Amino acid sequence: MLDFIVNKQACTGCGQCADDCPASIIAMDDGYPGIDPEKEASCYKCQHCLAICPTGAVSILGLDPEESDQLTGNMPDAGQMETLLRGRRSVRHYKEENLEPELLVRLLDVACHAPSGMNARQVRFTVVDDREKLAKLRDEVMTGLGRMAREGALPKGREFFADFVRMWEEDRTDVLFRGAPHLVIASAPNNIATPIEDCLIALSYFELFAQSLGIGTVWEGLVNWVLNELLPETRKRLGIPDNHVIGFAMAFGRPAVSYSRTTQHAPANIYFVS
Ligand SMILES: Cc1cc2nc3c(=O)[nH]c(=O)nc-3n(C[C@H](O)[C@H](O)[C@H](O)COP(=O)(O)O)c2cc1C
Repeated sequence: MLDFIVNKQACTGCGQCADDCPASIIAMDDGYPGIDPEKEASCYKCQHCLAICPTGAVSILGLDPEESDQLTGNMPDAGQMETLLRGRRSVRHYKEENLEPELLVRLLDVACHAPSGMNARQVRFTVVDDREKLAKLRDEVMTGLGRMAREGALPKGREFFADFVRMWEEDRTDVLFRGAPHLVIASAPNNIATPIEDCLIALSYFELFAQSLGIGTVWEGLVNWVLNELLPETRKRLGIPDNHVIGFAMAFGRPAVSYSRTTQHAPANIYFVS
């Protein structure tokens, strides 16, 4: 079932795959690692055995270690990572152009490498890949919210959405989607261990990778409320499965602004346990 295969010519018997296995199901036998078939069901399918092997001797789940990217000497340096993390900004002004479809898929393929509880890997990305489609969605949402506002149907604490509709109607100021060409909604089945957390982490990966490529992003708390509370029929229309919880929404596209320097925040709030 797991297809755990060891290339005995390449294996040095170092045992790192066995030591690192989070389920402790790999055992050294006669100098080589192996998995007792009775323990296979406990595998997390995390592929740590394939990833840690210094000689590429371990294959699992039918995967060829040669197909993995080499990490040694290829990690980004800490200074660049720090600049990315400190310099990432919420972008609220976008160019009126779509991202190339290949780039969109590349961003999402990297985002799906984010960690997930029990390695569930069930995050689904619902993507608005074309600015015309987003324009249509925006119209639908603004119309729906406008109707609720006129009928006094906006729930307590959400009355401020009426202002956003008014701004849109008056001069096309789009506080909801920020004029972005694209939207991604991360959702996950409600029966996995950590659906919301998995979605948030995946979108964090998405955002950072996007910004490293010069693509702007903004977390869409307002759209999240629209989908979850105000106009739940919209999530159906977008094809989000009924058994999914929405983790969050994020708008993105080519930015029409560029930031020259980092912001300056107060130091981290740290408490060292005595
Ligand atoms: C969970 C979450 C929800 C957010 N919702 C919105 C939103 O609906 N609209 C918006 O313009 N910005 C939204 N933001 C962006 C924050 O306002 C922004 O991160 C904050 O002002 C700091 O700015 P920076 O991201 O440029 O550092 C959200 C951010 C987070 C983390």
